[in-house]
This record gives sequence, structure tokens and C-alpha cells, in this order.
Amino acid sequence: MSENIKNEKMEAIVSLAKRRGFIYPGSDIYGGLSGTWDFGPLGVALKRNIKNLWWKMFVEDREDMYGVDAAILMNQKVWKASGHVGTFSDPLVECSECKGRFRADQIDISKCPECNKVGTLSEPRQFNMMFQTHVGPVADESSISYLRPETAQGIFTNYKNIVDNFYPDLPFGVAQQGKAFRNEISPRDFVFRSREFEQMEIEYFVNPENWQESFEEWRKLVWDWCAAIGLPAESVHELEVPEEKRAHYSKRTVDFEFDFPIGREELLGLAYRGSFDLDNIVRESGKNMDYLIKGTNTKFVPHVIEPSFGVERAIMAVLSTAYTEDEVNGEKRIYLKFPENLAPIKYCVSPLLKNKPELVAKAREVYSILKKKHGAVMWDDNGNIGKRYRRQDEIGTPYCVVIDFDSLVNDTVTIRDRDTTEQKLVAIKDL
Ligand code: GAP
Repeated sequence: MSENIKNEKMEAIVSLAKRRGFIYPGSDIYGGLSGTWDFGPLGVALKRNIKNLWWKMFVEDREDMYGVDAAILMNQKVWKASGHVGTFSDPLVECSECKGRFRADQIDISKCPECNKVGTLSEPRQFNMMFQTHVGPVADESSISYLRPETAQGIFTNYKNIVDNFYPDLPFGVAQQGKAFRNEISPRDFVFRSREFEQMEIEYFVNPENWQESFEEWRKLVWDWCAAIGLPAESVHELEVPEEKRAHYSKRTVDFEFDFPIGREELLGLAYRGSFDLDNIVRESGKNMDYLIKGTNTKFVPHVIEPSFGVERAIMAVLSTAYTEDEVNGEKRIYLKFPENLAPIKYCVSPLLKNKPELVAKAREVYSILKKKHGAVMWDDNGNIGKRYRRQDEIGTPYCVVIDFDSLVNDTVTIRDRDTTEQKLVAIKDL
């Protein structure tokens, strides 16, 4: 199994994800590229549902939020000012015997975790995790750029634009979703630690006098988010990160951890960044980042509360919560118990028999009605009904709709529920 996956439930999820078109190992056909993953048709749908829900909850449904979509490539000064060029690194050790490379803070450095030889690991050296590239045809110092390691900086560099264009009252937030890249020393555990992933981040600009209030508000909103994606509250845990373990910019951080099949690990973070980033911009660009309170002469650089969500970790938490095994008619069944709003496919429509044109025609009619209403509706007429149900269970479709001979007479369909496997008759007009 690729990416060092050791847990049985995790293996079952990774295998289902590949078999059923959710997530494939990146560049698999050429032997893979460690730390990269491709989303298949159902994975894309699941990811979109999660991202759209987040955008609705934190941008569209609020009056104090603004969205941006900044360029991934940014001026190198951004990453110098933010401290990423200087400090965004992990300690790397190399084994002189097997040539393995490891993160020193994640292993017992007295022996190599790969070949088990004692005393073969080098002294740790700091390894910067940003992917460097050059912009334009000449590769010199001045053309260096980086694939962004967080979406946050694209928000800070646009703070002034938002203030000048919209002049929002404090507190207000700016949100962004998008790719981030980190050259992780040891990508691991499926999409949990990848080299290319997506973040959904908010920089919430506040008056420094009452940052605690906004921090508490966002703390509660993070819990609302976890509930909205169906995570059981007892599987989510807050961890107050001690000063020595906090990121260089943070004055307070609460990590939200989740009981993944691989163990309790970070799902997302909530950090108080103070005025660290805007102060850096003032220093490096010479531009003024003051916020002027309307109708007064009071000016200051706002402070920032940052809820930072990883899309892949949300997907992994949703998949591992949804993954269920039970027994139906004496046979083992695997199904994904997705909340309805996240299920990639909402309904599957089938004619009882595919060689009866009148059933197929009626089923097509029902399919069109549902497709118009819900979009994410699948047609399946392969194999027998039992097999179709199993296939849909495995991809988490909440409802299977079957058109039989009674449908032709009574204008009714049978709807089968994924979780209970119960079936009921419903009039087509009530669908
Ligand atoms: N702007 C703040 C920031 O980037 P972070 O804790 O480094 O903070 C935020 O990252 C979130 O991004 C994490 O909680 C996690 O969900 C996700 N994340 C970080 N590194 C990741 C990786 N290598 N693979 C997948 N997700 C990652």
C-alpha cells in the first residue's frame, strides 16, 4: 500500500476510494508521485459539496465576509515578509545506510525507522518546505517564486484592496479556498499529509482590544462546521497549543483534532495571529495598513483571528465517519453513511428490468424529474436490483428509486433507504 498506510480501516477506505472513483494515487500510471492524489468523479463531487457548504456557511450567509481568489504564484517578497523563507522548515535526518529521509521530530532518532540500523541517522538539518520555481525565462535570484504553502498570504496582500473598495466595519473577514503546496519530508496516511492539498481559510480582522471575543465566536463556529459535515462531537477535540509548539506568527492557537482511523490528529486550526502579517507588509512594502474607524480619527493595524481548514482532512474525516460495515440478509455490506447534503449522488434511478422498454421509458421520465431537481442523480440498469443497491451503498447514495410494473399502472415508485434498507412506495408526483 502506498503512502505508508498501516491501519485496517484506513486501508479499507483507501481501497474503496480508489475502486469507486473517489480518490486515486497521483500519476499512478507512471508509478505514482509521492504525496499527490487525484480526485475522481465522486471525489470531485464530495469535495465540491464540502467546499460549497463552507462557502455558504462562512461567506454567503454572513454580512461581514468577503471572498477572494488570489494567484498561487506570488512575488517572493510575500514569503520573505511572512517569515516562510526563513522559518517554514522541518528538521530532516538522512540514513547513511538505506538513504531514507525522515522528519526528526516524528521518529526516535537513535535508530533508522526504515532499516533499523543504530547510529546511521545524520544530524537534523532544517529543510524548507516551500516548492521553489522561477517566473519567466531567466532562472536567477530575482525570478524566484514559490508555490504558496498557505492561502492566507493571498488574503493579507488583498486586505487593503478590500478595505478601500468596500470599507467594511470591524470586525470583518476575508475568505479564500484554494490549493496549497508543501514539500513534506514524509507524506503519509492517504490524503492526510500530502504535498499538494487545498485549504479554506479566513482572516478575520478585529479591533485588538476585543480579539478574545472574536476568537470565542470562531471557536463556536468551528464546532458548528464540524456538526454541519456530520462529525460526531465526541470524535472532535480541542487542543490548546502550548507556546513552544505554536507557529511563529501565533499568539494563541487551538487545534481541532479528530479521531481519524490513524489516530487522533489535527483536523484544522484556529489561531490568533495578532498584527504579525499586516505589520510585515508595512515593514517590507512601506504601504500603510491602518484601519480608520468611520467618523473618528482613530486608526490602527487590525489584529487577525484565523480559522484554517484543510479540505482533504475534512474529506478524510467525513469518509471515515461515513464508512460503515453491517450485515444484510446474512451478507457483509459496506456503505458510506454520508449526510444527505454531502453525498456525491443523491438518487439512483433504475428500471426493474432493462429489457422492458415500457419500464425503461417510465424510469427515464422519473430520472429526468429528479435530475432537474437535484442534479446529482445516477442512472443504473446494470445487473440485478440487489447488486445495484450494493453499488450505491458503497458510494453513499441515500436513495435508490426503482420503477416496476406497478409504476406503470399507479404512477408510483419504490424508494429504498440506504441506511435502513427499508423500501416504501411513493407517488411520482410527490418525488
Ligand atoms: N494559514 C495557517 C496554516 O496554513 P496550518 O496548520 O499549517 O496553518 C492549516 O494548516 C490546515 O491545513 C491544517 O489544519 C490541515 O487541515 C491542512 N494541512 C496542512 N498541511 C497539510 C498537508 N500537508 N496535507 C493536507 N492538509 C494539510
